[in-house]
Amino acid sequence: MKKIAAFALIIFIAFACDRQVYFEPPILTLIDSLDYEQTPYVLEIPEALPPQPPLGIELTVEGVELGKRLFYDPILSADGTQSCASCHNQSLAFTDNGLQYSVGIDGISGTKNSMALFNLAYYDKFFWNGRSPSLPHQALLPVTDPVEMHNTWANAIEKIKADQTYTDMFFKAYDFAVIDSSLVADAITQFELTLLSGNSKFDKFMKVETQLTPQEFLGFEIFNREPRQTSFDKPGGDCFHCHGQPLFTNLDFMNNGLDANLKLGLEEVTGDPFDKGKFKVPSLRNIEKTAPYMHDGRFKTLEEVVEHYNSGVKITSTLAPIMLKADINGNPTGIANGLFLTENEKAALVAFLKTLTDDDFLTNSKFAPPIN
Ligand code: HEC
Ligand code: HEC
Repeated sequence: MKKIAAFALIIFIAFACDRQVYFEPPILTLIDSLDYEQTPYVLEIPEALPPQPPLGIELTVEGVELGKRLFYDPILSADGTQSCASCHNQSLAFTDNGLQYSVGIDGISGTKNSMALFNLAYYDKFFWNGRSPSLPHQALLPVTDPVEMHNTWANAIEKIKADQTYTDMFFKAYDFAVIDSSLVADAITQFELTLLSGNSKFDKFMKVETQLTPQEFLGFEIFNREPRQTSFDKPGGDCFHCHGQPLFTNLDFMNNGLDANLKLGLEEVTGDPFDKGKFKVPSLRNIEKTAPYMHDGRFKTLEEVVEHYNSGVKITSTLAPIMLKADINGNPTGIANGLFLTENEKAALVAFLKTLTDDDFLTNSKFAPPIN
């Protein structure tokens, strides 16, 4: 587009002026400045992570920088007090400062626990109930959400257009495209896609760069083993079925037995009763930092989470079948799998979960608030 525009301008000038004027340097400088060359952003995918699915969006250095500024800027909220980062704090893997429910600009509390933001390219649905099909779609929603930034897009765009830094940055990222909500969402998505976490102690252990303590290693084994059926069996937590390596999520929506009276969950989006009570399986990377836990933040500690899986699973029609005891033919019975873990085994599982903390990610200045 910009090339055609510049070309049309040359033709126009060639007709409008005599040749001498046309080749005057100021006009050439003008044409040059119309043609901003974006720099491709090279994503460094940590060795521990699988290759990314196609992003469907081009990352540029200029776009990512703009997206980061927007992510950290309260300009998007109606009263200029809340940014995306208010509820997504880098040092807590982009969760909301230990709050059970996030609170919007009017002081009204939502009903969901904020979600961690990293390795987002691997998902194709967003939010606990999966109601957003893409990151650019998701990024549009907090701005107008009445219990979040409670703004209108018209108002947000007007403020952005009045800000010289933004008009310059949008030009560098998108040339002459008119600044609108879809460009804001594109830029924020570009930044979000750079949030990659794959360098925890556990990843270093897998690369044989460090060792796990015996307790952490026992936890690793429990994480990856099926539940014990008799007291002679080794301990198993069966976590790997849903939170398996390397992403520590199967990217699916499941019912992990939290409630006897099921909430809608994924059914709210699909209308399928088979999806009742199913929520997004979150990644367990950085889980030490993202308390409280579950879609409604009901558990304050990892110990409480482990106790849920150990002894608290509620049987309902959509409970994941692997959480039921199998009969001798391997078919699920109606009986919930208790894990029968000892106190030491539960502590080992928690110790292992803490090896998934990626300090490089939590402190990386690339993801920190822009300096000016
Ligand atoms: C008032 C707090 C708040 C603000 C402001 C906020 N978020 Fe969130 N965010 C949440 C909560 C809570 C959830 C989970 C909501 C749900 O599932 O219903 C969430 C979920 C998300 C998810 C889904 C992650 C996943 O794995 O499915 C993304 C992405 C996200 N937010 C990005 C953003 C961006 C970008 C902005 C700014 C435009 C933003 N958020 C502003 C609280 C907030
Ligand atoms: C059947 C699939 C399944 C299995 C097996 C499973 N989980 Fe989960 N896990 C989920 C789902 C689904 C959620 C989110 C549920 C919700 O919020 O409603 C979750 C949430 C969590 C959370 C909270 C994450 C957060 O961001 O709030 C932790 C921690 C966790 N699981 C750890 C474990 C551990 C440890 C094990 C093994 C003992 C395990 N899970 C086994 C499906 C599973």
